Amino acid sequence: MTVTIVGSQLGDEGKGGVVDLYGDAADVVVRYQGGDNAGHTVVEGGETYKLSLVPSGAVRGKIGVLGNGCVINPRTLFEEIDSLRERGLDPDIRVAERAHVILPFHRVLDSIEEDVKSEDDQEVGTTGRGIGPTYEDKAGRRGVRIGDLLEPDVLRERLEYVVPQKRALVEDVYGLDPDDLEYPNAFDVDALHEEFSEYGRRLESMAVNAGQFLTEARADGKNVMLEGAQGTLLDIDHGNYPYVTSSNPTAGGACVGSGLAPGVVGDGEVIGIVKAYLSRVGSGPMPTELGGVVGDTPGYDEQGEGEHEELATYIREAGDEYGTVTGRPRRVGWLDMPMLRHAARASGFTGLAVNHVDTLAGLEEVKVGHTYTLDGEECRTVPATTEQWERCEATFRTFDGWPEQDWGAVAEAGYEALDENARVYLEYISDELDTPIYAIGIGPGREQSIVLDEPEY
Ligand code: IMO
Ligand code: MG
Repeated sequence: MTVTIVGSQLGDEGKGGVVDLYGDAADVVVRYQGGDNAGHTVVEGGETYKLSLVPSGAVRGKIGVLGNGCVINPRTLFEEIDSLRERGLDPDIRVAERAHVILPFHRVLDSIEEDVKSEDDQEVGTTGRGIGPTYEDKAGRRGVRIGDLLEPDVLRERLEYVVPQKRALVEDVYGLDPDDLEYPNAFDVDALHEEFSEYGRRLESMAVNAGQFLTEARADGKNVMLEGAQGTLLDIDHGNYPYVTSSNPTAGGACVGSGLAPGVVGDGEVIGIVKAYLSRVGSGPMPTELGGVVGDTPGYDEQGEGEHEELATYIREAGDEYGTVTGRPRRVGWLDMPMLRHAARASGFTGLAVNHVDTLAGLEEVKVGHTYTLDGEECRTVPATTEQWERCEATFRTFDGWPEQDWGAVAEAGYEALDENARVYLEYISDELDTPIYAIGIGPGREQSIVLDEPEY
């Protein structure tokens, strides 16, 4: 069976740590969508690794596969591989020939479009990595794939078709000069061809037909883990469009983006990763937000603005809530149960991992948005449009807080050693989602976890 890891919220739920925790039994770890917009932190033997593209399992010496559903910036890929090598690791990375390539002009177009949108406060708050424009070209059947980089003539043909279109877009639609932008040579066919056919040479030994590669690996008895990036509410279909990424982080994406059949992924475990509170880096509604939009945060009229900012700052600092990729301070809020119900339904979680339980320690009370009220009606899940979601007011439940504990000792002693109030909180989450908790994160390291169950391969 396979094990699929899915973010249940807005990204940054601590997926990398769980991949690492349960990666021991895996032989192959696969990214199935997204690109270097992800930021996964893995702490191993006191060393901290920050990865954007290379699957987290690479830190443990697993084979890492970038599936066909990914968009790949070869510059980032080789920077990461080289920096892991410098630190004494020798990552074995395979890249799907069907995966699409992020080209420099995709990044430029990402930032131009965000600038234009920001004039009317419409920006998504993307990571600026060119993710959206690359998936646009994939769907528009004008993209460049990893397989094309291996064949210089094909690469030239593709570039000669697409680059003039992008130049015209920059000039005629945005009124800018493509040769006078921050990014040098982003719209120059020859320069692109030279740089990217060179990547092609380096990729030759890494390129695979991913679906076939993974199917054969399974036939050989290898255990495959599918490593999610981003989160359910960032999913282009199931997230809060348009404040989403351009791919499918939910479990369905794991089949399409890896080439493993739905039955294979569906027969396996799907573990939903939950952060014990909520964080968000980009724009969009957040009914349980603390601070930031305090004045508009429903359910908080009775409390002072200062108190919320203080709480938000406290959690942000305690949880180190700053973007791994961009360094942006994240918005924070209480756990949002309608969001988790939506995520559990969309991906069919067989187990949960709840992270950052230690971050909330020391608070007198901890709240959860249990349901929403939408236009006077109770709503138990996330509505389909962002406009409706914006009108949702959270109805909060309050839990008694739990104290700081010696987390190392708790991890060693197990679940019963965790403060009772924390256990009440966790059992509420598990009951509401009708899904067992497999692991509880009480610190950033692999050892700082309480493991209740192991997913079965
Ligand atoms: P990990 O894997 C959190 C967000 C961006 C923005 C939206 C679209 O670390 O959980 P994009 O650059 O993808 O076009 O941006 O998605 N976003 C993430 N937020 N964690 C991530 O990845 C994210 N990847 C994208 O902030 O709101
Ligand atoms: Mg991240």
